[in-house]
Order: sequence, then C-alpha cells, then structure tokens
Amino acid sequence: MFTNDNKGVKKMEADRVFNRLSEIGIIPVVVLDDARDAEPLGEALMNGGLPAAEVTFRTDAAEESIRIMSAAFPEMMVGAGTVLTIEQVDKAVMAGAGFIVSPGFDPEVVTYCISNGIPVCPGTQTPSEMIAAMKLGIDHMKFFPAEPSGGLPMIKAVTAAITGVKIMPTGGINAANAADYLKCNKVFCVGGSWMVKGELIRSGSFDIIQSKKAEAAAIVKSINENKNEKP
Ligand code: 3PG
Repeated sequence: MFTNDNKGVKKMEADRVFNRLSEIGIIPVVVLDDARDAEPLGEALMNGGLPAAEVTFRTDAAEESIRIMSAAFPEMMVGAGTVLTIEQVDKAVMAGAGFIVSPGFDPEVVTYCISNGIPVCPGTQTPSEMIAAMKLGIDHMKFFPAEPSGGLPMIKAVTAAITGVKIMPTGGINAANAADYLKCNKVFCVGGSWMVKGELIRSGSFDIIQSKKAEAAAIVKSINENKNEKP
C-alpha cells in the first residue's frame, strides 16, 4: 500500500518530523477510550501551545481518534503510540498518523516502517537495544520507562558512549522534571501523560488539560530561550 521507495525523500520526512517534535519539546501521551473526545482534546492541545499527540494503541478508539484529530488539526503532529505490530502501523498510518512510537524495540516493526518511509521512534532501554536500533538506521529513539530505568543519569551515561542518538524519554516525566530532561542535549523531546490524564479526558476537563498544556509550553519556551546553556 505504500509506494514511495525513494530513500532520500523518506529520510527527509523522518528528519522533518523529528525536527518538529524537537521544536514542540513535550509530546502528550494520550489514551482515549472514546473517539468522540479526540476533537475537544485536540483543540485543548492546540490552544495549549504544544500541537502534538502520541495517541496510544491501548484502546480500540485509537485508530478513529487519530483519524479525527489529524483531519481536524492538519498542522498538529499526530502520531501513534504503543504500536506493537505491523498491522497497527498500517492502521495508524492509514488513519493519518505522521509517526510511529513503540514502547520497545521490535526489528520487524522498525524495518517495516523504515522501508515504507514511515518515521518511527522505537523504545530502547539498554545500550544493546540502542545499538541494534542504530544498525537498522534509527537515530531517534524513545527511552522507556525513563524514570524507573535510571532517568537522566542513565541517558547521560549511555549517550556519552553511544553518541549518535537522540532520545525521547517517556515514563515518569512530569511538570517538575521535564525541564531537566530537556536541558540535556541528547534529548530531542520528552513524552508524558501528566497533562492528559485519563480522568481529565473522561470528565471532559479540557480547560484543565489546556492549562496544563500551557504550563508545559512555558517549560519548553524557557528551555529554548536558554538553549546556549545546554551541556
Ligand atoms: C508511555 O506510554 O510512554 C507512558 O505510559 C507514559 O508514561 P507516563 O504516564 O508516566 O507519562
């Protein structure tokens, strides 16, 4: 179903996506039980100043939510998260996902994405997984679950040796520690669910989500203003 076999164009698209995610800085990890929440959530995320979402394939509503969000907000970076299979990659991309995120490293899924020009950010936790991902051509990877797996000290230690990677830490990131991660020059963005918690979505508290997003946007803004101080 994917026909683009021009390697240069594929790489350019991945670069464009990861550069944009890097500019946005904080990527909300979203679990939607009901696709009807996708549009008001998308609006809150857009108005909160960080136009991105990783919509996780943990619920049956994921595919339809991606379809609704990407159609309603074309300028938003809508990706699919918790993607575990090639079938889910296809569903996500056909629904409009612009990138694929996975909690772990599955060479089959990664190879499929790369050969079809789909930007993919697989999860890695160890130096061995990072090296294996790099061998397939991956340079942007998720570090999951970040805090339980050693957090920022682990990222700094590993990337001191494995220098060619850019990391998206996710898992245990919140308003209190996001800035520390973003200050690390090996971190291209962070992911987190703290501003889009399920109970806020289920209760329709999109105003709270929007203000938490605005707070997160302010964190990114202050980091960007002090970029020269990055280690
Ligand atoms: C993920 O899938 O990336 C995590 O569930 C997000 O982790 P958090 O809920 O701790 O932010």
